[in-house]
Amino acid sequence: MKTVLYYFSGTGNSLQAARDLADYLGDATILPMADLVTKGKEIRHKDGRIGLVFPTYCWGIPRLVRQFVDLLRPDAGVLVFSVVTCGGSIGAANAQLDRQLRGLGMSLYCGFSVRMPGNYTPMYGAPNPDKVKKMLARARTRLREAAKVIRHNKVVPFDNGDFFGRALGKLIYGAFMKGLGKADRKFFATDACTSCGICARVCPVSNIKVAKKGKPEWQGTCEQCLACLQWCPEEAIQYGKRTAGRRRYRHPAIAVKEMFRRK
Ligand SMILES: Cc1cc2nc3c(=O)[nH]c(=O)nc-3n(C[C@H](O)[C@H](O)[C@H](O)COP(=O)(O)O)c2cc1C
Ligand code: SF4
Ligand code: SF4
Repeated sequence: MKTVLYYFSGTGNSLQAARDLADYLGDATILPMADLVTKGKEIRHKDGRIGLVFPTYCWGIPRLVRQFVDLLRPDAGVLVFSVVTCGGSIGAANAQLDRQLRGLGMSLYCGFSVRMPGNYTPMYGAPNPDKVKKMLARARTRLREAAKVIRHNKVVPFDNGDFFGRALGKLIYGAFMKGLGKADRKFFATDACTSCGICARVCPVSNIKVAKKGKPEWQGTCEQCLACLQWCPEEAIQYGKRTAGRRRYRHPAIAVKEMFRRK
């Protein structure tokens, strides 16, 4: 059966998860949610499966994923599943997604959580390369197991995060979403910036402008994916006072060009 995998990814974890799934499932196409959200056209499916692969944000689903799901218009019988990557706990991400899908006449027939290295540098630095390697090997095994279930096309209960994650999500997810646009005011670039423009090219929502010989300027429509901060080759981008000196994270199998926004 044909599968279309739609992904959203700031640091490559969810993109690589989609690639691994495509390998394990076979006959799969991988498409970026961000570009389709920008186009704003309804997304129709006549048959097959739709896979939504994306990171957990604040124990819930990213705003861009919500916007993407609102565009989905599959025919009856098309199956929808999710793979949610996270650093520790997906909280209520699958439950939120399933609720949104049900409101639109769809539902998750299965949904997985996959732990991968966390990328939220405002709170912690990336794990060391050895630990990253081990975590990614475990993630691949988990994805292979997930693919076996996905292939059966049977309804199974979706993964939920632990109690702690779900409780935290309930408390702060709403505030996180409300603050999204203004949150990019905390970004700045240090004098290490070489005006290379990479931060602007990896931003999935074109929220960064870099003038010739200038520094990046954030435009107030941020999704908080942290791609700009993580992919800057000079580590010139900081977020508030806590990110200086913290190890950055990017999935080691993903090249920066693969993160560039498509025109
Ligand atoms: C804004 C933001 C919020 C996050 N919130 C959570 C969270 O609530 N729980 C968690 O386990 N990981 C959280 N993370 C970590 C990511 O979900 C995790 O690293 C994910 O695999 C990144 O995927 P990507 O590389 O495809 O962007 C968060 C990351 C970001 C940028
Ligand atoms: S990626 Fe880094 S060095 Fe390049 S323009 Fe952006 S801040 Fe400057
Ligand atoms: S400005 Fe940075 S954090 Fe915000 S959406 Fe763009 S790349 Fe992601």
